[in-house]
Amino acid sequence: MLDSYDRKIEYLRVSVTDRCNLRCRYCMPEEGIADEGHSNILTLEQIARLVKVSTKVGIRKVRFTGGEPLVRKDIVKLIAEVAEIPQIEDIAITTNGMLFDGMAEDLKAAGLKRVNFSLDTFVPEKFRYITRRGNLHDVTRAIEKALKLGIAPVKINTVVMKDFNDDEILDFVKLAYEMPLNVRFIEFMPIGDLPFYKKERLVSMSEIKQTVESRYELLKSSMLKGNGPAKSYQIKGGMGTIGFISAMSNHFCSECNRIRMTADGKLRGCLFDKGEVNLKLALENDANDEELVRLFGEAIKKKPARHHMDEGWGVGNERKMYQIGG
Ligand code: 5AD
Ligand code: SF4
Repeated sequence: MLDSYDRKIEYLRVSVTDRCNLRCRYCMPEEGIADEGHSNILTLEQIARLVKVSTKVGIRKVRFTGGEPLVRKDIVKLIAEVAEIPQIEDIAITTNGMLFDGMAEDLKAAGLKRVNFSLDTFVPEKFRYITRRGNLHDVTRAIEKALKLGIAPVKINTVVMKDFNDDEILDFVKLAYEMPLNVRFIEFMPIGDLPFYKKERLVSMSEIKQTVESRYELLKSSMLKGNGPAKSYQIKGGMGTIGFISAMSNHFCSECNRIRMTADGKLRGCLFDKGEVNLKLALENDANDEELVRLFGEAIKKKPARHHMDEGWGVGNERKMYQIGG
């Protein structure tokens, strides 16, 4: 289905929980989230039904996010159910990797095609600092496991922050040079747990790219599967690719093909837009599929032309990243 600006919407991101086993400083407060925040999430059956309905407005790809999607116990079963929907061509997750190793075979057998791992540093102490409780080794083991299982492409999401990991940019490129990974540098955004966000921590995409190109030659990449908003490049002589996601300095809204569903059953056209369509309420009122299809259509039509995040730091983000699903 086309939205009001002729963008073809075929990608649904589903946040399956707002809980997480980490507490990344830019995302969640130390104490986690208030209890009333997670009593309201959709059941597995509801999510599976909504994904099925979404295919009627043209959804073909699904990504499960969180919070951390793998802390939801029934995620393997959910993936298996969604894999049964014939119109769904692609199922992916975005994960912090903590629980991936032990679940990887089951996830793959259920129908998982692609994985994005969030990883901001290769220094164990810095990893512990930024996530407040994570273990770097768990992520690196998870990445190796994904490669070993032949899940491709495996992507790494790296949020670049000045005086935290901007000195590691070339280490990340080296990783993508040596392994068939797609490392994507993400510009820090004023969304999430705002006390940590400071304008001074923003490293612009052009600065990041300059650093990369001081050592490596980038070649314009052919289309990488499921590439979304990243501008991707091959590294000359290397195995993997490098992507740049610059929500702030160069927004990619005109190419955006996605809508989002929150864990509590609201549809959002844009990460940064407040207009939501309440699917959960409709389910509680015994809506039939036709009515749900209409609501999906409404959310798609409401999708704004672009975000306005750069015009007011941190305003309009009452909903946190872990609620909307990254
Ligand atoms: N700015 C940029 N990226 C962020 N993410 C979470 N919070 C922010 C932020 N404030 C990233 C995570 C994850 C992806 C879904 O979004 O690191 O990789
Ligand atoms: Fe969890 Fe991801 Fe937020 Fe970190 S950024 S606390 S891993 S949801």
